Amino acid sequence: MDRFVSVDEFQEEAFKLLPKNALDYYKSGAGRQETLRNNRSAFSKFKIRPKCLRDVSKTDLSATVLGEKVSIPVGISPSAMQRMAHPDGECASARAAQGMGTIFILSTIATSSIEEVAEAAPEAIKWFQLYIYKDRHVTRSLVKRAEDAGFKALVLTVDTPMFGLRLADIKNKFQLPSHLKLANFQGKYALTANKVGKNTGSAMNDLGALFDASLTWDDIRWLKSITKLPIVLKGILTADDAISAADAGASAVMVSNHGARQVDGWPASIEALPEITKAVGHRLEVYVDGGFSDGTDIFKALGLGARMVFLGRPVLWGLACGGEEGVKKILTILKIEFEYALAISGCSQISDIKPSMVVHESYYARL
Ligand code: LAC
Repeated sequence: MDRFVSVDEFQEEAFKLLPKNALDYYKSGAGRQETLRNNRSAFSKFKIRPKCLRDVSKTDLSATVLGEKVSIPVGISPSAMQRMAHPDGECASARAAQGMGTIFILSTIATSSIEEVAEAAPEAIKWFQLYIYKDRHVTRSLVKRAEDAGFKALVLTVDTPMFGLRLADIKNKFQLPSHLKLANFQGKYALTANKVGKNTGSAMNDLGALFDASLTWDDIRWLKSITKLPIVLKGILTADDAISAADAGASAVMVSNHGARQVDGWPASIEALPEITKAVGHRLEVYVDGGFSDGTDIFKALGLGARMVFLGRPVLWGLACGGEEGVKKILTILKIEFEYALAISGCSQISDIKPSMVVHESYYARL
């Protein structure tokens, strides 16, 4: 790991290290995986227009997100079952975020519980990712536990009335390895399995059958009524939905296609971002995840109006290669790459990245 200088090198190594069941689960997108490939390749369609001679002798990468200062505009997106990648799982990722002064979002479908993560990384800025279950008591109980454990925001995933069709998981009949557990649902919090519905053989489909697929915007108001925490809606891909999110009182939206794991054919996150920042950037905070693997990707997202970028799979590759240190190294690589992109393009802080500095490639076709 010491010799790795890019996210891609971590990925290549993680692909060798991880068992097939876990690797396929982590790496797969839905269907033919066109959206998955596009999440990465779409960054090439955007170009950075640099400025020169701007005194970049000092740089400041810090940002403010929901009122909290972060030292880099890159945090950790929720990804499920991280102990399949490393025995310390989510606790290691949260500690890495703590060490780097950034945000860790814990997945509901985690292999370390809310309470374990709070204890492992007491100083980290922690947010909790949530689904709404048919049994509302399950949601209320998770919200209360996250509040009691000091989590600072709820990240409601709004693109998942059920999990998408990931073909490798269906073929593998994906299951969580038997030595691991869904840590938020143990003991008195146990879920009653409900196998009715879209059962494709992957354990994800049994789990997804517990979610309330009848959710509407009214349920966001319900969620607001049971918590004082700010609510981030994750999985927004259109301006219309972003406006509904602002109208419903969300504090932020995360532009995301769920790691391309829901419906193949959805846009890349970076493609969807501009219409959303344009529509609601003045009303709430806009974040983005999906396909980020280089510091220039981060520069482009911020130029297109995002306040913060989040990482999913790169964190899993870091965990697989080196636990907490691996995740720290992933964040450090991106921090350095971003700092170089920032300074060499003529900016010394994030507010220097002006919208005119990131353009779609069609800008150059006008000539
Ligand atoms: C997934 C869920 C757990 O994509 O977010 O598998």
